[in-house]
Amino acid sequence: MNSFRTHTCGQLRKSDVGTQATLIGWVDSVRDHGGVTFIDLRDRSGITQVVFHPEDNEAVANASQHLRSEDVVQITGKVCARLKTDEIDTTNADLPTGEIEVSASQLDIVNKAEVLPFQLDRALSNEDLRLKYRFLDLRRPVMARNMQIRHRVTKTTRDFLDENGFLEIETPILSKSTPEGARDFLVPSRMSPGKFYALPQAPQQYKQLLMVGGLERYFQIARCFRDEDLRADRQPEFTQVDLEASFITPEDVYALIEGLLKRVYKEALDVEIPTPFPRMTWKEAMDQYGSDKPERRFDMRIQDVSSIFTSSDFKVFAGIVNKGGVVKAINAKGFGNASVGQIDTLTKTAIEAGAKGLAYIKVRDDEWKSPIAKFLSEEEKAKLVETLNIEAGDLVLFAAGDWEQSCDILGRVRLQCADMMEILKDNKERDFLWVIEFPLFGWDEEEQRWAAIHHPFTRPIKEDEEKLRNGELSTDLRAQAYDVVLNGTELGGGSIRIHERELQSAMFKALGISDEQATEQFGHILDAFSFGAPPHGGLALGLDRMVMMICEAESIREVIAFPKNNRGADLMSDSPAPAEERQLRDIHIQVKLPNKK
Ligand code: AMO
Ligand code: AMP
Repeated sequence: MNSFRTHTCGQLRKSDVGTQATLIGWVDSVRDHGGVTFIDLRDRSGITQVVFHPEDNEAVANASQHLRSEDVVQITGKVCARLKTDEIDTTNADLPTGEIEVSASQLDIVNKAEVLPFQLDRALSNEDLRLKYRFLDLRRPVMARNMQIRHRVTKTTRDFLDENGFLEIETPILSKSTPEGARDFLVPSRMSPGKFYALPQAPQQYKQLLMVGGLERYFQIARCFRDEDLRADRQPEFTQVDLEASFITPEDVYALIEGLLKRVYKEALDVEIPTPFPRMTWKEAMDQYGSDKPERRFDMRIQDVSSIFTSSDFKVFAGIVNKGGVVKAINAKGFGNASVGQIDTLTKTAIEAGAKGLAYIKVRDDEWKSPIAKFLSEEEKAKLVETLNIEAGDLVLFAAGDWEQSCDILGRVRLQCADMMEILKDNKERDFLWVIEFPLFGWDEEEQRWAAIHHPFTRPIKEDEEKLRNGELSTDLRAQAYDVVLNGTELGGGSIRIHERELQSAMFKALGISDEQATEQFGHILDAFSFGAPPHGGLALGLDRMVMMICEAESIREVIAFPKNNRGADLMSDSPAPAEERQLRDIHIQVKLPNKK
């Protein structure tokens, strides 16, 4: 191919036997078999076995004895078939190059490596160490594979959207706060003392302004920044496949995204995913699975047992039902042997989600072990057995209270039970679905005001437009918003937008934003909507999450080249870091550290 090599380390096959090859790469491992040295030579494409025979070339064989893992070496030699007879088989069926080896006649040690801080061939549990030496961690074949899949997904996305008439357009990183619901990262301005840019939580307003600009179909592989608490599927900076189109209906968005995901899975994994995806309303998803991103690969659905408790001796439940609340239950089939510790953990989860308690029944052949069984009449028990299909060996769990909160509590408990029972272990199913008909608003207890469930640019359904205009607000108002979900993970979300100035103003008003604030924060978009804004809508897919699911990785950090750890730090470059006095002076910033506790 060039003077460094004739082939990559993943390329040679049996048909190359007898030819000369020059390879360059890293020494993956060295084995000494009584004077004969074997090395595995690795580059991003794979591994080739190289053998050094003293009888062929003594000097080279001697030099090979000094090789260490991760040295960069160039070798030249003859491609030989590995020995395979009835008695001995030295081929390696796990390697694409496993039928050959290169017998080296030349060795050039291009660059020596120190002993590594960790071995690349072992799964390393210390993630911080991996992140500190990410440039080494990336050499591991699984990381190389993840990066290649990520590339393939991005490339396919670009091609697909291009074919569908979308233009790739960049939008500013130094921008203004957009209310996507997280905290902003701020950048102080040197030229305007006391003023700040905000890094975009998403290009939401820009993409809508592109629609007003008549560009009709936009997409971007967009970096987004959100200062929020991190989890396995969240990073402070992440990437979206962000798109927006004019003159588009939700049906068009569903078909487009289904087509995109179908193509991506085909190109990245060579699997066919069936389309169209099933759809479920937000209400159904919450009611049955206790989540707006339902994991449907196991059943354990949430049931309503309110009517059984209307005149129960268990006063807590009776009281709640008679005040208009609900009693919800799940039957974790076969989990009646849950330990005291496990029940405690489930209870803790419920209480963290706002529950007053987590009543349970461990169903035995002859009795119900339960803190509430003594209050239940025979009739109530019989109805529970029927509704929940209770059998010996089951574990039944209850949440009582407000509908949405009870569903949410059991939704979390349900997932934790499944985890404890290892129900999904080795499950390879892919359950894509659309969650549709989200509510427009939710009530924010803390702030005592209405908050947009998706974001303030989301359009209500036609029937609810008048209510928004008239300020008749409730959780019953529905949005033209949709999420695409895979196996209980939200891959993406979007909506049809408001495109009229007066309706957008009504929305801001509903959210408690005064006319003055609206003009100051969103004047540009309100202005834009008064100059002939086209009807438009769109969606954003979380690219990192999508690639994480495709790679079956444990966290999105596995598919990001240089991620932050769960405290938001880049351990390799040691950022964030203090700034120099002079830099701070330039941007008119004085640092006041919090008092140490
Ligand atoms: P939303 O806030 O739902 O919508 O984000 C879209 C998708 O981005 C991914 N995502 C994240 N991925 C990693 N780390 C994070 N911290 C993170 N936050 C979100 C998720 C999510 O589904 N502007 C709207 C889209 C629109 O209306 O068109 C938006 O940003 O996969
Ligand atoms: P108590 O009579 O308060 O001790 O409650 C009996 C059982 O019911 C305990 O296991 C509590 O955890 C549970 N419990 C109490 N309130 C609720 C509730 N609102 N939802 C579900 N379980 C509850």
